Amino acid sequence: MEAVEVGEEGTFRLPSQIPLIRTPIPGPNSKRILAEQKELESETVIYPKGFPIAIKRAQGSVIEDVDGNFLIDWFTGISVLNLGYSDVIRKAVSKQLGNIWHTMEIPTEVRIEFLKELRNSFPSSMQKGYKTIFGISGADACETAVNIAHSVSNKRASTVAFEGAYHGVHGGIVAATAGRAYKSPVFGSGFGVVRAPYPYEMWYDYDTNDTLSFLDKVVNDPEAGYEKPDSLIVEPILGEGGYIVPPEGFLKDIRDFCTRNDVIMIVDEVQTGLGRTGKMWGFEWDDVKPDIVCISKSIGGGVPLSAIYYREEYDAKLPTPFHLGTYRANGLALAAGVAVLKEVPKHLERVRLEGSEFKKKLGSIGSPLIADVRGRGFMIGIELTDSQKKNPLPKQDMMTIKHEMLRRGLVMHTCGHFGNVFRFMGALNIPSEYLQTGSEIFEAALKKVAD
Ligand SMILES: Cc1ncc(COP(=O)(O)O)c(C=O)c1O
Repeated sequence: MEAVEVGEEGTFRLPSQIPLIRTPIPGPNSKRILAEQKELESETVIYPKGFPIAIKRAQGSVIEDVDGNFLIDWFTGISVLNLGYSDVIRKAVSKQLGNIWHTMEIPTEVRIEFLKELRNSFPSSMQKGYKTIFGISGADACETAVNIAHSVSNKRASTVAFEGAYHGVHGGIVAATAGRAYKSPVFGSGFGVVRAPYPYEMWYDYDTNDTLSFLDKVVNDPEAGYEKPDSLIVEPILGEGGYIVPPEGFLKDIRDFCTRNDVIMIVDEVQTGLGRTGKMWGFEWDDVKPDIVCISKSIGGGVPLSAIYYREEYDAKLPTPFHLGTYRANGLALAAGVAVLKEVPKHLERVRLEGSEFKKKLGSIGSPLIADVRGRGFMIGIELTDSQKKNPLPKQDMMTIKHEMLRRGLVMHTCGHFGNVFRFMGALNIPSEYLQTGSEIFEAALKKVAD
């Protein structure tokens, strides 16, 4: 058994063999900590059910549990750690800690550096004429984006959102806040939403034209029963909804629809952003220019941070105060964000090339349970069904596969309309051998359930 040492930067040397499984999972220390968590923390906690371990530390794409088991991370805290548990982030945060970490909106050098790096991360046509508002979470960013649209349209009109969308769970509490200023329609305490179909060819027989026809009806048919929406929020690839890649040109068509009908186009890049799909931003695949972009997850490298990048002309219509929150743009998160924005571009080409190869490799696994493999870059979904491809694989079988993989040293998560999609969302800098080893573990776990 190999010794594991603590290194100079608080990092540690990994064993040469990864994964390294020393105890049954969960091991005795994990069991003790999980029991303590159960006693002290709410029953509503969900992730330890899928991943019954307690974590000691992590390095790059390797997680060490408290029993000395070393696991490959294909989970990245749900696409928050696009650079893995990276020394670049550790160093940036440690350095910032020596300066300052909480200043409200009073500017610091790191805040301005972040704002400039964020602006430079967009295509050149979006590096002018846009501004940033900070938030803390993805939900916070999406809610603020819709509030911007309400401000611009000067009313609380409805927003188009898609089937399978996930934009977070947030808001509503403003209704209990007393200040008259916060009663203005721009502070949403619940939105009107028109739900539109998102092309999902595996189960539903509709395509982009059906989506567009529905949207045209919503806007242009006064007898259809819809209020005219002021905005539309869309994920370039559905994240929680099942890693569903829409047909090529979908975002372009949505952009045209929005432009024609004076609807503000909000692109939710919370999960697709920061290199996940092999481009800095997911909307770049369709070469469109959104009006508002929602950013979170990997932007803080694991330190909570979100940002809303929006057309500067909207500023004239935003009331002051507008978006509030004590913890927005924490200095540590901004320092991590600068590191992320500088580092991610170095990995994009690799993610595009290796992602496309890896998708093929996953598609070549000969399991009767695999019905579809899809994705872009390092955002790959594998949809599982029964062997007749008629029904989604039941949730208990998905859980068995997840636990089977964990026992063999792979942390992999699910998503999807029916919870039947496994998703690869490894770090952009994950070593290639962890893709190979991970896919062997995935295949073995599938076989166990299929058998
Ligand atoms: C596309 C998308 N938008 C918004 C959110 C909400 O982010 P948060 O959980 O930080 O509120 C998520 C979370 O998974 C997401 O995937």
